[in-house]
Amino acid sequence: MRSTVVPQLLEVHGTDPRPEGPGRRILLRDPDEVGAILHSNRFQRTDFVRQLSGDGLLATDGDLWRERRRIVQKSFPVRDVEAHLDSIRLALPGFVERLGEAADEDRPVCLLDEMMRVVSRVVYRAVFGVELGRDEDRVSIFQPMMEAVGDVHWSLVAPGGTVDAGSLVRLKRTRDAADVEITRMVERRRAVDIGIDDALGRLIRARDEGLVDDVAIHDEVRSLVLASTETSVNSLIWAFLLIDDRPEILARIERDLDAGGGDEIIDKVIWETLRLYPPVWANERQAIEPVDEAGRSWEKGDRAVISAYRLHRDPRQWEDPDAFRIERFEGLAERRWQPPHRFAYMPFGAGPHLCIGRNLALIEMRWIMREVHSRFRIDFDDPDSIEPILGIVMRPSAPVMVRITRRDRKH
Ligand code: HEM
Repeated sequence: MRSTVVPQLLEVHGTDPRPEGPGRRILLRDPDEVGAILHSNRFQRTDFVRQLSGDGLLATDGDLWRERRRIVQKSFPVRDVEAHLDSIRLALPGFVERLGEAADEDRPVCLLDEMMRVVSRVVYRAVFGVELGRDEDRVSIFQPMMEAVGDVHWSLVAPGGTVDAGSLVRLKRTRDAADVEITRMVERRRAVDIGIDDALGRLIRARDEGLVDDVAIHDEVRSLVLASTETSVNSLIWAFLLIDDRPEILARIERDLDAGGGDEIIDKVIWETLRLYPPVWANERQAIEPVDEAGRSWEKGDRAVISAYRLHRDPRQWEDPDAFRIERFEGLAERRWQPPHRFAYMPFGAGPHLCIGRNLALIEMRWIMREVHSRFRIDFDDPDSIEPILGIVMRPSAPVMVRITRRDRKH
């Protein structure tokens, strides 16, 4: 993988884009400033995210957000980290079979597609209470919408960027297509109850009690799909790519897995991957009124840019910040690990909007990596050609073609 950071990122993070005039965008450079803004009730999410994805949890604030979070929160128990393990375990045999078939036929596979398929199955069951078949990949129906959201997002974030009418038309079209799938999903969930406490089931019950309407269900499902799939899928791809460059880490993972362990080192790899390639690479909050906060004066409408990417690579906080060093996470398994500063490491955000699905994501990624490294080796066709590009999440620039071989160890 190319170790240099894409020029786009340098542009966004190296300057304070559009620093002057109404609605200034100001890049926060200090973790203390980030903490102050994320916890301030004078700052809210920007309207623009809401326009992109609708009034779902990802985009709302205030009373509407509180009410929606209250409805779905219980299906993501904070303390029960393994709450979604059954959904993860059920998706794995089909995933392993597919990779095994590709290995036996010596057929190249697109790693992104395979990750999307397995993550789809986990998310559809765990979050929407719908069981998919082995080869079903319903999430790719949402892919064009995710790309359209990413394009518009990037156009607005890029220095000097504007959104052209074509991108907005594409966004509308792809959202309409996604809504057809959401209607199907709700019908499927209503028809078959698989007996788990999923977010869609909770939303449907709230709808039946008159607490929310159909539009709210669509907004939430759209928001949950956006939040839960590309984030985990791309993190997994970055993790496999980073390990590809470090055979000694791969050897340790395989040795630990073969000895019946493996979770500790795999978790360190995941956390270090999320540091170097945080899928949600930047985020914004907007001042709702003139206010003094985080050491400066803000006008109404000014936007604070919070860059996880930048915070995670800040040399004042992290030694040799661009290096992939899993030793940074010593003590993770014993819950002793602490970031150098409370807001220096925040792949899942911080403050009231802290990611609701972080346990699901972390356990899901751990189990997928366990399966892959227990059974297979991955050879990337052209790892050096892959670099991060910025959409709504940070994703690889190329389709990520790989060859799979079986490891000697039999399971
Ligand atoms: C590696 C995987 C993931 C990463 C890196 C990630 C990252 C984030 C971040 C940075 C935020 C904060 C956004 C903000 O401050 O405005 C967030 C919020 C959120 N995430 Fe995740 N996420 C991941 C997986 C998931 C999964 C699996 C779900 C499952 C449903 C999920 C659902 C959500 C929701 C609903 C919110 C909004 C929470 C709120 O505002 O109350 N995420 N996520």
